[in-house]
Amino acid sequence: MERRSDQPPGDGAAGAPSVARMYDFYVGGDHSHDPDREAASEALRALPGLDIAIRANRAFLRRAVRHAAERGITQFLDIGSGYLVDGPGNIHDVARRVSPDARVAYVELDPEGVAHNRAILGDDPAAVAVRGDFLKPHDVLADPDVRALLDFDQPLALTLAAVLHFIDDKDDPRGKVAELRDAMAPGSVLIVSHAYVRPDGTGTTSDAIRGVYQGFGSSLQNRGPAETGRFFDGFTLVEPGLTGMADWRPDEDTETDHPMTHSGVVGMGVKD
Ligand SMILES: C[S@@+](CC[C@H](N)C(=O)[O-])C[C@H]1O[C@@H](n2cnc3c(N)ncnc32)[C@H](O)[C@@H]1O
Repeated sequence: MERRSDQPPGDGAAGAPSVARMYDFYVGGDHSHDPDREAASEALRALPGLDIAIRANRAFLRRAVRHAAERGITQFLDIGSGYLVDGPGNIHDVARRVSPDARVAYVELDPEGVAHNRAILGDDPAAVAVRGDFLKPHDVLADPDVRALLDFDQPLALTLAAVLHFIDDKDDPRGKVAELRDAMAPGSVLIVSHAYVRPDGTGTTSDAIRGVYQGFGSSLQNRGPAETGRFFDGFTLVEPGLTGMADWRPDEDTETDHPMTHSGVVGMGVKD
């Protein structure tokens, strides 16, 4: 597996599994390559129910985006967007059901994912897909396409769904979130979902899974409510606070039967 020294792990470097394409495989997409499918299949063997947890994460993200839109948010900055789905269900689709003029900037590290997302968005004048790195918030905030679309003087929603657990503490994820927070207007919201193994052992960051991701150099962090809550410094959590994925404002469509749906730590905060 060839990886250039300037490429972070899991970003789709030639020949190596990509975190984005493995996720696409889990959710039934068709953008993965052999190394992605092999690593993802190994992860599914190591942790039956991983796909159920991933569906619960997507469902949380959609409920949270809808809730943000219902609170009047019309602009979204989604970092670690993965591969957009070919059909309704992306952030812009969900937000526009509430606010037809909602604008969304999708930021993703995996270049193939960015190209795919651009193709899905086509000539949508109110959505962009750019390549960017959460670890370089200054560059994301300075990206001309992001700046042309989003008005940072007005409230926006920053979504970090299933991305922070790939960032090691040594890379200062809290500092990066704080940098993004400081660029956001008061009343903006932060939406986070994070992998976590609950005290009963249910969750997606078991040693077996971590081994699969570490196998190609990707970190996989297990952060519980206390640690995940620290990403919300400067924000006030909205009810019901930090919960498992299916426990955050579930609706009649929320899958709650499988224990995996209750794993993870998710929440939304409003910037003070
Ligand atoms: C598990 S997927 C989540 C996709 C989507 N946010 C969701 O929740 O359905 C995580 C995504 O984060 C991306 N990612 C990982 N590290 C990143 C970074 N430093 N900057 C930007 N994206 C990153 C991966 O490439 C992958 O597409």
